[in-house]
Amino acid sequence: MVPAFEQIMPPLEGETATTTHHSNAGNNGGIDGNKSRVTVVGSGSWGSVAAKLIASNILNITSFHDELKMWVFEETLQSGEKLTDAINRTNENVKYLPGIKLGNNVVADPDLDNAVKDANMLVFVTPHQFIDHICKSLVGKLRSDVEAISLIKGMEVKIEGPCLISTFISEQLGINCSVLMGANLANEIAEEKFSEATVGYRDNREIAEQWVQLFSTPYFMVTPVKDVEGVELCGTLKNVVAIAAGFVDGLAMGNNTKAAIMRLGLREMRDFSKLLFSSVEDNTFYESCGVADVITTCFGGRNRKVAEAFAKNGGKRSFDELEVEILQGQKLQGVSTAREVYEVLRHQGWLESFPLFATVHEICISHLPPSAIVNYSKRKPILPLSEVSAH
Ligand SMILES: NC(=O)c1ccc[n+]([C@@H]2O[C@H](COP(=O)([O-])OP(=O)(O)OC[C@H]3O[C@@H](n4cnc5c(N)ncnc54)[C@H](O)[C@@H]3O)[C@@H](O)[C@H]2O)c1
Repeated sequence: MVPAFEQIMPPLEGETATTTHHSNAGNNGGIDGNKSRVTVVGSGSWGSVAAKLIASNILNITSFHDELKMWVFEETLQSGEKLTDAINRTNENVKYLPGIKLGNNVVADPDLDNAVKDANMLVFVTPHQFIDHICKSLVGKLRSDVEAISLIKGMEVKIEGPCLISTFISEQLGINCSVLMGANLANEIAEEKFSEATVGYRDNREIAEQWVQLFSTPYFMVTPVKDVEGVELCGTLKNVVAIAAGFVDGLAMGNNTKAAIMRLGLREMRDFSKLLFSSVEDNTFYESCGVADVITTCFGGRNRKVAEAFAKNGGKRSFDELEVEILQGQKLQGVSTAREVYEVLRHQGWLESFPLFATVHEICISHLPPSAIVNYSKRKPILPLSEVSAH
C-alpha cells in the first residue's frame, strides 16, 4: 500500500475544524445582513488581474459590496511616488500590470490589517515565500465568517513533510481555504483573452460556486472540482516542469524533446500528488489546472524564460541573478518549488522514482549541467509509482 500524505504527516491541530468549516460568506450578504466584502491580499501581476476580474463581477452581484480592497506591499517607484498612490491615482498597477485598468471600484491599501478587517472573502495571491509572514500578522484580525481562496503556487516544506499553501493558511488562520489554479498567464487574461481555470474545494460546494461566480467572466471560464490537493499540487508542480522545458529551449533541443519532457513531467506530477494524498483524482490532471497549465507554462511562463537563459549561459549565471535581471521584481517560483519537492523526495526515499523532478533541482544548484535534463537512460524510474500503488 502506498503511503498517503495522511499517513506520513498526521493532521495538525485544528485541521478537522478547518476542513469542516462552513461559512455563510455570500449566501445572504454576510453577517448582520451586511453585504459581503472581498479583499485581495497581494498585488503582483496575477493579484492585479484577480482584482480586475472580481471587481467587474461584484458590481453585478447584489449581495456584495461594490468596493474591492487590494492589499499592496508598499514600494516606492523610481518616480518617488508610492505604488499604492500610483494605483489609486491611475487605476492601474503601474509596476506589475501596466496599461490595464483594474476597475474604479478597486482600492489599493498598503495597510494589511485595514485591508482585511471588514472582508469575509479573502483572496491570497502573493509569491509563496511571503505567505508565512502575512498569515502570522493576520492571526486574530479576521472576521469570524471568513472564507479564503489561494491563488498561490508553491508549498511550505516542514520537517514532517510538505504543507500545501491552502492548508498552511487554514491552519494559521483557522479558516477554510479553497484554491484557484489554471492555465493563466496573467498578462493574457488582463487583455481579456479567453482562458479557463479550476477552483479546488474541500467539501462545501456552495462556497465553491461562490468563488466561481466571483471569478467567472465571458473570457474566464471557471470549473469547480472537489479535489483541493490535486488542484493545488498541479498548480505548484507545473513550475518545476516549466524549468525543465526552459532548459530544453535554452539548449535548442527541439519540439519532440520538449513534448517528452512535458509528458514525463505531467506523469511525475500525478504520481507525486497521489503519493502525498490518496484522495487526488486522475481527472484533475485533465482540468485547466493540470495539462493545460503545463502546456501554457512550458511555452509562455516566466519559469521557462529564466530557465532558458540559465541553460543558454551554460549554468554559469545563477537563477537569483537572472531572476532580478529578467523579471524586474516579479518572482520565480519553480526553482524554490524544485528544491522543496527534492527535500520531500529525499526525506521519503523517493528520489529514484522521480528522475525529472530530481534532475531539475540538481541542475538548478549546479550539481548537474543543463544538458542532464535528457539523461533518461541513466535515471529511468524503475516503475512509475502510480503503477506500484495499483498492485
Ligand atoms: N503572474 C502569473 O501569470 C501567475 C499566474 C497564476 C498564478 N500566479 C501565482 O500568483 C502568485 C502571485 O504572483 P504574482 O504574479 O501576482 O506576483 P509578481 O511576481 O508579479 O509580483 C511580486 C509581488 O510580490 C510582492 N512583494 C515583494 N516583496 C514582498 C514582501 N516582502 N512581502 C509581501 N509581498 C512582497 C510585490 O509587491 C508584488 O506584488 C504566485 O504564487 C504565482 O505563482 C501567477
